[in-house]
Amino acid sequence: MNQQPIALILAAGKGTRFKSKTIKILHPLLGQPMIFYVLDTVKKLGTNDILVVVGYQKEKVMSALKEREVQFVIQDQQLGTAHAVMAAQAALRPFLERDLLVVNGDLPLLRPESLQPLLEFHQRERNALTFVTALMDNPFGFGRVIEVSKGKYRVVEEREASPEQKKIKEANVGLYLFRIKDLFGALPKVSNNNSKQEFYLTDLIEILSQQGKKVRPFSLPAKDEIVGVNDRYELAQALRVLQIRKNRSLAQLGVTIIDPETTWIDIGVEVGEETIIYPGVVIEGKSKVGKDCRLESFAVIRDSILKDDVHVLASSVVEGSILESQTKVGPFTHLRAGSHLRKGAKVGNFVEMKKTEFGPESKAMHLSYLGDSKIGRQVNIGAGTITCNYDGLKKHETQIEDEVFIGSGTQLVAPVKIGRGAYVGAGSTITKNVSPEALAVARGRQVEKSGWARRKRKKG
Ligand code: UD1
Ligand code: CA
Repeated sequence: MNQQPIALILAAGKGTRFKSKTIKILHPLLGQPMIFYVLDTVKKLGTNDILVVVGYQKEKVMSALKEREVQFVIQDQQLGTAHAVMAAQAALRPFLERDLLVVNGDLPLLRPESLQPLLEFHQRERNALTFVTALMDNPFGFGRVIEVSKGKYRVVEEREASPEQKKIKEANVGLYLFRIKDLFGALPKVSNNNSKQEFYLTDLIEILSQQGKKVRPFSLPAKDEIVGVNDRYELAQALRVLQIRKNRSLAQLGVTIIDPETTWIDIGVEVGEETIIYPGVVIEGKSKVGKDCRLESFAVIRDSILKDDVHVLASSVVEGSILESQTKVGPFTHLRAGSHLRKGAKVGNFVEMKKTEFGPESKAMHLSYLGDSKIGRQVNIGAGTITCNYDGLKKHETQIEDEVFIGSGTQLVAPVKIGRGAYVGAGSTITKNVSPEALAVARGRQVEKSGWARRKRKKG
């Protein structure tokens, strides 16, 4: 009977080696908690019944997973990996004839393509237990696999291993398939008589072997899937693998990533074909980049939508913003949340923008701050323009209608409105609305005192 197994994901442990306030399995990798990767892999295997063992920070874990179709099992005290499985016994009792896929929650690199052959092997061989192993150059920290006698196995944990056993290269990956009936027959035999005084799931390998049940290792050849993320250095190693996988999948869709090793794109980010991404670019969160875009080095794009043919020049930061097609930003531009550049707009060097609608083909090329504003089409914002949007208590809006020309060095004291087609003279401090088609100049009149400087020098 080739029924899909029930899956049990172990996610109750604190992850002490992470030295973190946050439970290990909620740490993000490319913008997504570690546990989501495990869940997605299990789900792609076709498993519909997924149980997650929670304990440490269980409210946080359950809330992170609230939109996932999973059932929670609570392990109040974390007394070891076998103890975590014991906590699921009641939930599993109706399914004695089925198989159980047990996965450590800290294996984010596993791929469904690798799990499929495991499942087939387990069912074809009618094993009571299949445990996944891998040959590692440096198996430090992993349990080591020992074939006690032909077809009988046991796993010894790193802490318990003798110097000889530590030389064994075959390691236990932390992924198992049990026949539930046999699992139930062996679980009560697990003791915590070991250096950690924990109930080790790995003891079941020996117990089931001794009970004469068929226990077999299944060797996983894919080395880049078996990193168990126990500390932050292993987190970095896992990140590297995911980074390259993501960048490769984008390249296959027609995106040019010049240097995949220095480009960090979150797992959920979409990028359109023919887009070119320079070294050092970061694209995070719920971002979406269209076709034919060019993102130059050290651009950081976060939770933003870039339509087609958008050009972001070097060292610009774009957050919570929308950039319509044919817009151009940077270098050194900061677009903060709520900026919306309409088609063909250009924003240049050292311009900061926030909560601003910036109309089609409008330009702000140099050294400006535009906040809480509505700016129409074909507006020219001169260098050094500042919307004075904050009076110390409240934010106020600036409106600039179509085809307005704002001269350089202007301060617009909000709330204020500049009517369609008006001009504002350079260096003005505008405190009152300007009528359409008018010229407003608000600065001290220039005076000239002829010979003044010469007279001053003579006196001195
Ligand atoms: C475990 C294996 C080891 C294997 C390694 C692979 C045991 C005893 N050892 O060791 O042979 O080489 O994984 O990475 O199983 N958890 C709970 N409740 C608990 C304890 C742990 O849910 O009481 C969860 C953790 O959250 C984690 C997973 O089980 O997701 C594995 O626990 P961890 O402490 O990381 O085991 P390792 O020491 O890595
Ligand atoms: Ca681990």
